[in-house]
Amino acid sequence: MLELAAKVHDEVRQGEAFAPYKNDPKKYHKKFYIESYGCQMNFSDSEIVASILNNEGFGATRNYEDADLVLLNTCSIREKAEQTVRKRLTEFRKIKEAKPGMLIGVLGCMAERLKSKLLEEEKLVDIVIGPDAYRSLPGLIEEAETGQKAVNVLLSREETYADISPVRLDSNGITAFISIMRGCNNMCSFCVVPFTRGRERSRDACSIVAEAQDLFDKGFREVTLLGQNVDSYYWIDETKNEAVTFAKLLEKVALVNPALRVRFSTSHPKDITEEVLHTMMKCDNICKYIHLPLQSGSTRILQLMNRTYTREWYIAKVNQIKNIIPDCGISSDIIAGFCTETEEDHNDTLSIMERSKYDMSYMFIYSERPGTLAARRYKDDIAEEVKKRRLQEIVELQNRLSLESNKRDIGKTFEVLIEGDSKKSTSDWMGRNTQNKVIVFPKRNYDGKKGDYVWVKVNDCTQATLLGEIIN
Ligand code: 5AD
Ligand code: SF4
Repeated sequence: MLELAAKVHDEVRQGEAFAPYKNDPKKYHKKFYIESYGCQMNFSDSEIVASILNNEGFGATRNYEDADLVLLNTCSIREKAEQTVRKRLTEFRKIKEAKPGMLIGVLGCMAERLKSKLLEEEKLVDIVIGPDAYRSLPGLIEEAETGQKAVNVLLSREETYADISPVRLDSNGITAFISIMRGCNNMCSFCVVPFTRGRERSRDACSIVAEAQDLFDKGFREVTLLGQNVDSYYWIDETKNEAVTFAKLLEKVALVNPALRVRFSTSHPKDITEEVLHTMMKCDNICKYIHLPLQSGSTRILQLMNRTYTREWYIAKVNQIKNIIPDCGISSDIIAGFCTETEEDHNDTLSIMERSKYDMSYMFIYSERPGTLAARRYKDDIAEEVKKRRLQEIVELQNRLSLESNKRDIGKTFEVLIEGDSKKSTSDWMGRNTQNKVIVFPKRNYDGKKGDYVWVKVNDCTQATLLGEIIN
């Protein structure tokens, strides 16, 4: 699944539809179709929605023409994300005309941002439901079935869906995401998330460990702990009078089984603690990979972004990570063309990228979002061509850094978790090393299967992939 990266977007998966398990024994009287956009958190939420709907007798379908209920789980992070959803809605208009009883629901961040305005703007929408209101979906469906429009966009300070067991659909059966917290208190000035997902709250640690154990028992071999800002996870176990920090939670999940890999996303550079880094070193099965969004390399811009760290502080954090975990993979999120960004600020971003030697980055043009601090305080004053050119320079630099990083791995041997066949050929496996790099290698005579750990020697690479051979 995506993201994620908690907040990381997997472009390949945008708009992906869920389908039921092939051999699901349950009989359903109605069908729902769900498409997800945005970050991994949204994809995870769709699995919670699927679980709620299954309990109501709705089975999933991959074909929206068969569905009684069509849902779009939406993202608001950039304007383009919202435009994609609007376009998709117009495509549903024809089917709805042919099948008047069909209900259309908009879920997620766009629902939360636009609330009932969405009903006025998009006349074919019947249900609008925000990220904290999914438990009320069955009631809203009933209401909509009577011909009324149904809306619930209440945000909550408590909801974590801790007791709802997500329905893992379209999963590879090996890797899964576990949501550990919801919302965000950071108030980065460019970001709509605090408005669409509300206040930060942490999920019961016992339910997280139980979910990891259950996944392991079902054959999964890797879990990614998800949150907008995982390092501020904090939960008090009142039965044991124990405070569970993110470092403690990581260790608890790692202790489920040494054969279960543990990843996490996303970390905020201001919050990731030394304790987390030492815990990563202490437990072999916690993957040596950190997604550490930079956003900008200029202290002045970072201040306008309300990121609460400086250029020097970020550099020191990367140095600390590399000192404690020498082989740690690091990736980043970068925004080009934030309000007032000068060429000098932009060059500061390029030079930090070079110093940090990111293995990979998600790179974006700044997109002003209504209601955010930046939209209220600053002018979106960088010309589109300038934003595009700066993004291009950032992308070109990252491409070089990714290739250089992969070239440094040639000749090295890594433990790889096999996730399945490679995209291009069924005679090759695809897996990842602890640093989260994708490795493709021939199956040859190795009598293995997905979910196995194998040792792979890297012989060659592209910018995106390591190429190797099994040496077990
Ligand atoms: N414009 C462009 N990129 C944004 N991001 C968040 N908000 C915006 C915005 N308004 C990027 C940040 C974040 C990632 C998930 O999306 O880099 O880390
Ligand atoms: Fe995820 Fe919502 Fe943010 Fe999009 S706007 S990245 S869906 S939290």
